[in-house]
Amino acid sequence: MPVQISDLYDNWAELQAHADTWKQRTLKQAFDKDSNRAARYSTAAAGLEYDYSKNHVDEDTLKLLLGLAEKADLKGAIKRLFRGDHINNTEDRPALHSDLRFEGEAQNDNQKEVAAALDKMSGLISRVHNGEWKGFDGQEITDVVNIGIGGSDLGPRMVTKALSAYHTGHVNVHFVANVDGAEINDLFEKLNAGSTLWLVASKSFSTLETLENALTARRWMLSQGCPEDSLAKHFVAISSKVEKAIEFGMDADNVYPMWDWVGGRYSLWSAIGMPIAFAVGMDNFNKLRAGAARLDNHFAEAPLEKNIPALMGLLMFWYSNVLGADNQAVLPYANHLQLLPSYLQQLEMESNGKSVNKEGQRLGYQTGSIVWGTEGTNGQHSFHQLLHQGNVLTPIDFIAPLRAKHDIKHQQKYLIANCIAQSQALMEGRDLAASKAELEAQGVAADEINALAEHKVHPGNRPSSTIAMEELNPETLGALIAAYEQKVFTLGVLWNINSFDQWGVELGKLLGTHVATAIDTTDVPTDWDSSTKTLIKRFLEANA
Ligand code: F6P
Repeated sequence: MPVQISDLYDNWAELQAHADTWKQRTLKQAFDKDSNRAARYSTAAAGLEYDYSKNHVDEDTLKLLLGLAEKADLKGAIKRLFRGDHINNTEDRPALHSDLRFEGEAQNDNQKEVAAALDKMSGLISRVHNGEWKGFDGQEITDVVNIGIGGSDLGPRMVTKALSAYHTGHVNVHFVANVDGAEINDLFEKLNAGSTLWLVASKSFSTLETLENALTARRWMLSQGCPEDSLAKHFVAISSKVEKAIEFGMDADNVYPMWDWVGGRYSLWSAIGMPIAFAVGMDNFNKLRAGAARLDNHFAEAPLEKNIPALMGLLMFWYSNVLGADNQAVLPYANHLQLLPSYLQQLEMESNGKSVNKEGQRLGYQTGSIVWGTEGTNGQHSFHQLLHQGNVLTPIDFIAPLRAKHDIKHQQKYLIANCIAQSQALMEGRDLAASKAELEAQGVAADEINALAEHKVHPGNRPSSTIAMEELNPETLGALIAAYEQKVFTLGVLWNINSFDQWGVELGKLLGTHVATAIDTTDVPTDWDSSTKTLIKRFLEANA
């Protein structure tokens, strides 16, 4: 018998009864009743202003949700997280990404190792930036390419794009992740071998995609005239398996460490973040780390009712497990944050897409949810139709950096005005009477009004939160990412799951190697299913 959510929380019936009260009232009524609602349901920390007032919460809801946090011992779990307990129980290790982003002096052995690695990385970056580091034919480095996938790609790629306004211009930074040769092949056309530095980022140094791309890059460098004994001028590795990287052919001096106590998807603050530092410089990289550290302090110390990540997690729990949402949208109103949703897909879905609890018991309740979204205002001309009028419950996070780094101020006004208006429209909606009145005001004939009015109704009462910040800069971005990391942790605690392993990615990888072998040998096991066998046959025919 799978574990039910009511087995964890004995007041579950009370929570459901309270949820029913929200079926009798709307968010608009809640705002009409309480002119102070926005202030009451807002909190701020580390440069982030979190307004969750457009959600189905009141004092009773919060009391109930905070009661769940108490029952799950969220406060104790936060202490255990930062203390380095082996909370990743299936891999018997801590999840100490917080040790990657301390401010000031290193305080413990982990932080000292991090400081040493970042010091070495800083040396490399300045040698490349100031032209001292030369390629095999004496050229300065103009292009840096990060080869990595998942946590060794998404975070650095997202942050590098997000901080476009801070790029120093010393080098161009590129990313290659996919095992699809088309990605690296397209890049070759833009690169000059003598002025290219390749970063091979892999915590495990055993990821197929990364190793194949690294070998392809190596072959290309040789084909472009780089002598074998000069490859060290063009390849740097970042890995927790330093020996494996050296065995692969990396020069020992060029290998930067990562640690087992950091999960891949939580590692952008380490040397895995090297592409970020190449793009924006070490000072800005450290400011990013500092922003995250400030958010960590807030998570550790703020009371839960004022605690941004705790509230984000409790709200998502409320929507997932009580109100029945299986998805959530993240809509950044900043073009440079366009990769945030795909970064958050790995963070949330790889962390919390689990169906057993920490004790290995099967679960009968939802964990994780589908994260999706794109940058505003682009989504408004696409999927927002469903958000406004569809019948799918989607809690939304609007991300709103208020001030732009560029000078096209009037467009910033339209951007943020739209962000604000979307949350207002979703919450307020427009009823039948208003929709008829609008058509009347437009002089539409009565029979047409009757035919159209219902189509123009916006049901409203749709939940969203807004995370605003003065501007998108390294500190606020660091805090924003850390807020999501700690939200994911909060949810893991509430669901009693291990958010730091990812066994679910293994089977597909294993079968991928079996299928590749079957293709190589054309020896396809007869007991495989007919669909798999036919697809392999078609591949062989297409590539004959
Ligand atoms: O396949 C999933 C995964 O293990 C992720 O968790 C990880 O971020 C990614 O692959 C890349 O792993 P690595 O950094 O070891 O190459």
